[in-house]
Amino acid sequence: MKTYIVEAPSNIAFLKYWGKANVDQQWPSGDSFSMTLNNAKTITRAQKSKANKDLVTIEGLTEGHRRAEKHLEKLRHLTGFKDHLVIESKNTFPAECGIASSASGMAALTIAALCAWTEAESFEDLQQHNFSREAVAHLARMGSGSAGRSLWGGFVHWQKGTEPSRQKLCQVYPPEKWQLCDLICVLSNKTKSVSSSGAHQAAWQSPLFPARLAVIPERLAMMRQAIEKKDLESLGTLLETEALEMHAVMMTGQPSVQYLSEKSIQFITWLREKRRQDGLPAWFTIDAGPNIHVICQSNQSVKIIEEIHARFNDIDIIEDYIGNGPQIKLTCD
Ligand code: PMV
Repeated sequence: MKTYIVEAPSNIAFLKYWGKANVDQQWPSGDSFSMTLNNAKTITRAQKSKANKDLVTIEGLTEGHRRAEKHLEKLRHLTGFKDHLVIESKNTFPAECGIASSASGMAALTIAALCAWTEAESFEDLQQHNFSREAVAHLARMGSGSAGRSLWGGFVHWQKGTEPSRQKLCQVYPPEKWQLCDLICVLSNKTKSVSSSGAHQAAWQSPLFPARLAVIPERLAMMRQAIEKKDLESLGTLLETEALEMHAVMMTGQPSVQYLSEKSIQFITWLREKRRQDGLPAWFTIDAGPNIHVICQSNQSVKIIEEIHARFNDIDIIEDYIGNGPQIKLTCD
């Protein structure tokens, strides 16, 4: 029996996807831009099932995976494939606490399912079956918006476009462009109380949301310019403004959603102070959770980890860096 093994990385959004213009078609309310990671990933095995239902196992558990099962149903509906699948999946990092496990998870599930259905062993094979990388990314984003960006390595742009069918996903720079690190500081690995898919809609009720949507094009242009120049100070300043703005929208939406914890605030206060006083070359961004992503240059990461641990000795740090994107392997039992 052929089993397809897909390793798909998570990604950290520099420009955040928050809020949907159309829920059914997963049309975002603005563009987003991310860096693909290397170590934080989901590994998913898929094979065709002899039964007439999917069997999904995640981290060894066979129950409670409605979101993955729904995505498989949606994929069958969108592609016309009929076979049910046996799926086994695990993460290399704690899931559902704001480290974008839905991005790597939905990307890995989408690629693995398509490989099992088409018997493709590579992205070139998928292309032969009319699934270009971008087509796969659009299917992945139907499971979780951010998953579409995990189809490439390096820096990736999800363009809103003028209507749902005109969205675009593409790699903007390859990973060699700039060796950036993401030190994922796990302040809490508890499952977050509100899933991001549930919270996206609350953004429309925030009085800050229209102002946020208006600045997205300019902020994206400035981020790209900072990456072009490898100007970490400019990029870092934009990253922090962007993350805090998204959390301000979350907190002022209806219902108000608060992902930041006391410890998150303590951490970012310390990081900013350390930068101001000692010139620590590190900036933060935050996804939909309390955990802090510290962005720095690769050659500074050892020193920065030491500084973090000297202040917060109980924090686990996942040391990650810019990665190459997903991989497909085939085994035959
Ligand atoms: O892909 P979703 O629906 O889990 O939303 C992800 C939202 C953020 O991670 C907070 C931002 C982003 O662009 O990844």
